[in-house]
Amino acid sequence: MSTNERISVDGHGRVVIGDHAEVTRIARDAAGFSSAVSRHLQVPNGLDGAAHAEMRHLLDPFMDADAVAQLLPELERIAADLVARLDAADAPFGAVADLGARFAVRAQSAWLGWLPEWEEPLLQWVADNRVASRTGHPRATAEIADRFDAIIRELLRRRREQPRDDVTTRLMGLRHSDGSALRDDELVSILRNVTGGDLGSLALCTGVIVHWLAVHPEHQDHLAAASDADLDAAIDEILRADDPFVSNRRRVTRQTEVGGCPVHAGQIVVLDWRAANRDPAVFVEPDAFDPAAHAAANLVYGTGPHVCPGRLLATAELRVLVRALLTAGRIEPAGDPEREQAPVAGFRAVPVRLV
Ligand code: HEM
Repeated sequence: MSTNERISVDGHGRVVIGDHAEVTRIARDAAGFSSAVSRHLQVPNGLDGAAHAEMRHLLDPFMDADAVAQLLPELERIAADLVARLDAADAPFGAVADLGARFAVRAQSAWLGWLPEWEEPLLQWVADNRVASRTGHPRATAEIADRFDAIIRELLRRRREQPRDDVTTRLMGLRHSDGSALRDDELVSILRNVTGGDLGSLALCTGVIVHWLAVHPEHQDHLAAASDADLDAAIDEILRADDPFVSNRRRVTRQTEVGGCPVHAGQIVVLDWRAANRDPAVFVEPDAFDPAAHAAANLVYGTGPHVCPGRLLATAELRVLVRALLTAGRIEPAGDPEREQAPVAGFRAVPVRLV
C-alpha cells in the first residue's frame, strides 16, 4: 500500500488518487492510463489514442472561442430573464434547482438548438440523474442513461425529418476521417457527454458559486464590477476550493506504481479532482481565495488530452449568470444549505434571496 496519505484504496479495490502531482501525471499519460473504463460507448470520453484525437478534432470547434462568442448574447438574455423572474417573485429561491438547473438546460438548449418543449423532460432528467448518482446503484444509473438516450434518439429522429441550421444538425453531418458518417450510437453518446453530465455539473457549479458569494458578501461588490477575465478567474478559484466535479477513472495499461503503490494492467484508478484541488502540497491554504496564485495548478476542468473541451462554454455560462445575479442585487443566505452526499459533491440545495 502507498505511504502517501492522499492515495487510498476504496471499497471496490480501486486506487483513489487525491495527490495533485500524481493526478496531473496520470491524466497526462494517456498511454499508461487508458480512458476506456466503461463497457458502454463513450464518445469522446472513453476513447484513447488516434480515435480520441479524431473525435476531439471534430468536436472542439463546436465549443471554441468563436462558438462561445456567437452564443454569448443569447446566454446573457437567458440569464437576465431568469434572474429577473426570480427577483420579481421577491421570495427565497434555490440556487441549484430554481436557478442553476434551469439555466443549464436553457443555455445548453440554446447552444444545441433544442426547442423549449424539451426543457421540462430535461429538467426532470437532471433531477432523477442526481438521485441515481447518489445511490450509485448500477441498475438505477443504467435506467437513467437509457432514458436520456431515448430523449436524444427522439430528438435526432425529428431533426432528420426537419433539419435546422444549428449545432445539433451540424453534429449530425460530421464525418470520420475515412469519410464515413457518424453512427447514431456515436451521436447519442456525444450528445449524452456534452449535455447529460454537464447539465448536472453546471447546476452544481452554480450552487457552489452562489453559496460562496452568499457567505462571502465582502466579495460581491468587486466581482459585480470585475472584468470578464477577473470574474472568470474568481469563478475558477471558487470551484477549485469546492469542486463539484468529483472524479474520473482510468484503466492501468501496464504494471507500474501510483504514489509508491504497485498497480497492475487492467486495474482501475480514480483521479480525484476534488481532493487534488485541495492538496496542501500545492495549495498551502486550500480555502484561501487567491485566483492569481492558484490558477496554474487548478484542475477543475482536468488536464491532458481529455481536458474539458466545454471549458470556455461552461465559463461563459457561469460568468453571465453570476453577473446577472450580482447586478440584480445582493445575494443573501435564506436558510441552511444542504450538502450533496458522496459520490456527488457540491450542494443539493442552497436557499438564497436577492435584496
Ligand atoms: C460545468 C462545468 C464543467 C466541469 C467542472 C467540467 C469538467 C470536466 C473534466 C474534469 C473533464 C476531464 C475528464 C477526464 O479527464 O476524464 C471534462 C471532460 C469533458 N467535458 Fe467538461 N466540464 C464542465 C462543463 C462542460 C461542458 C459545458 C461541456 C460541453 C458543452 C463539457 C464537455 C466535456 C466533454 C465532452 C469531456 C470529455 C473530453 C474527452 O474525453 O476528451 N464539459 N470536463
